[in-house]
Amino acid sequence: MKKIIFFLLLAATAAQAEPFANGNAENGMKLVEKYDCNSCHKGKVGGDGNAIYTRPNRIATSADILIDRMEQCSGAIGKQLTEQEKLDLAAHLNKTYYHFE
Ligand code: HEC
Repeated sequence: MKKIIFFLLLAATAAQAEPFANGNAENGMKLVEKYDCNSCHKGKVGGDGNAIYTRPNRIATSADILIDRMEQCSGAIGKQLTEQEKLDLAAHLNKTYYHFE
């Protein structure tokens, strides 16, 4: 019986795997400041701009779309995010707003 419970726990943990496990959410938070991400978002949703991530009709509906959108956004200001920066930013946004699994 103990064994069965152990495997159930294992399966439950695997099912909740973080899509950006290799990203550093803390660094992602700093990158939002560095790239002034919300400068544009403020104009669109008001406040501090973070409401763009929780608006009812939000466009990032999956982990892949989230990465795509960040590429478009950074491209719009002529910045090329490194793979690690994308993971860090995505880890932060996912942990705080999106909660994709
Ligand atoms: C040049 C202006 C601009 C900059 C700078 C910018 N964004 Fe955006 N961002 C937008 C706009 C405009 C939208 C909304 C697009 C839409 O509604 O179709 C958006 C939407 C998003 C979304 C999707 C929100 C949703 O609906 O789920 C994410 C995620 C995002 N931006 C991340 C970032 C990150 C991370 C940065 C900084 C690296 C950044 N953006 C910088 C303009 C910008």
